[in-house]
Amino acid sequence: MNLKGRSFITLKDYTPEEIAYLLDLSADLKAKKKQGITGSSLKGKNIALIFEKPSTRTRCSFVVAAVDEGAHPEYLGKDDIQLGHKESVEDTARVLGRIFDGIEFRGFKHKTVEDLAKYAGVPVWNGLTDDDHPTQILADLLTMKEHFGYLKGLHFVYAGDGRNNMANSLMIGMSKMGVHFTILAPKSLWPEEELVELCQGYAKESGSTITITEDCAAAKDGDVIYTDVWCSMGEEDKAAERIAILKPYQVNQELMKQTGKDTTIFMHCLPAVKGYEVTEDVFESGASVVFDEAENRMHTIKAVMVATLGE
Ligand code: CP
Ligand code: NVA
Repeated sequence: MNLKGRSFITLKDYTPEEIAYLLDLSADLKAKKKQGITGSSLKGKNIALIFEKPSTRTRCSFVVAAVDEGAHPEYLGKDDIQLGHKESVEDTARVLGRIFDGIEFRGFKHKTVEDLAKYAGVPVWNGLTDDDHPTQILADLLTMKEHFGYLKGLHFVYAGDGRNNMANSLMIGMSKMGVHFTILAPKSLWPEEELVELCQGYAKESGSTITITEDCAAAKDGDVIYTDVWCSMGEEDKAAERIAILKPYQVNQELMKQTGKDTTIFMHCLPAVKGYEVTEDVFESGASVVFDEAENRMHTIKAVMVATLGE
């Protein structure tokens, strides 16, 4: 599989075979790191890390993954560069593309990461936008594969804000990989119809299904219950409204029991606001694999950089 020179903006651009390849590469790099073996596949490469929004996992994963493979990462925070203030995205992309070998972007508008990829001339990796968070999905899929041993046919239930970047990108990733995908959310927070239709096409190809409902009884058979914050970065002013409409979709012991399985795991991209989208007892329970997911951010981000930029 040759992914050299490719950007990683959304999983829409990647086939199920390419996603499976990235997961296998992640597992391989993870196993090597556990044995104390790191590589040199990014030796001599310089990597720009642009962050308009804060980050713990994504930033640290890019830095450690880059250093593990011999690259130099340079953090560019929102007040450090001219992007979008004094200089157009197109111009910044062309400048950074002359200086760096790869660019990570986390920020608001999805169009910014698309434009960076269009004009930079080097691979651009999406570290989260308002619409999509594709590197998180690789970590989630790797965690599920490690836990269950397979992906195809698993039942995945997402409860909460059904139209944020996590719901969108989980729907893309799960439908591509043959995982049955359910969103439990109030109608006002359902994903855009156009994206649902696109994912329904992926689901048809992979033999999975997509269900979007207000009824928490649809958690039945769930192998995974997943949630995310009720207010994403940049939406802090919506807190009161979201708490009011999302309370019935909190992941608590009652919702975990709705699956009818005692093997159901709890997942969350983190950071979590305990007491809101998830109760403390579920978060801390034996069913919770959230720190495996967090660790897997690093191994999967490393795989993306190695596959698209590595020697
Ligand atoms: N899950 C995730 O992207 O975490 P950070 O915001 O800490 O990067
Ligand atoms: N939906 C969240 C995800 C954080 C990883 C946000 O955008 O803030």
